[in-house]
Amino acid sequence: THVVADPCIRCKYTDCVDVCPVDCFHEGPEFLVIDPDECIDCAVCIPECPVSAIHADTELPANMAHFLALNQRLAATWPVITARKAPLPEAERWKNGENKLLDLEQ
Ligand code: F3S
Repeated sequence: THVVADPCIRCKYTDCVDVCPVDCFHEGPEFLVIDPDECIDCAVCIPECPVSAIHADTELPANMAHFLALNQRLAATWPVITARKAPLPEAERWKNGENKLLDLEQ
């Protein structure tokens, strides 16, 4: 499967959604996740993300390894998103941030 990782948080550009052939993206308030049961590993979403948030599970950076289980867990409850929309208003400010999940959890 493919995985949405930390750079998406507080940005949510949603360019990825437009190219997904199987509608496997699910939307939460601060970021998107991929449903691993729906993703067909086509990889077309990877170059679409302006902040390079999407990785194959086999190529996830070590410091983002926990996003694999997080995508699976959150995709089970968050609704599917099928159309691109405006990014979060603070996206430009947050796009270079790191470990943004930690900020969210505090
Ligand atoms: Fe997030 Fe990148 Fe998609 S910021 S919403 S994974 S285009």
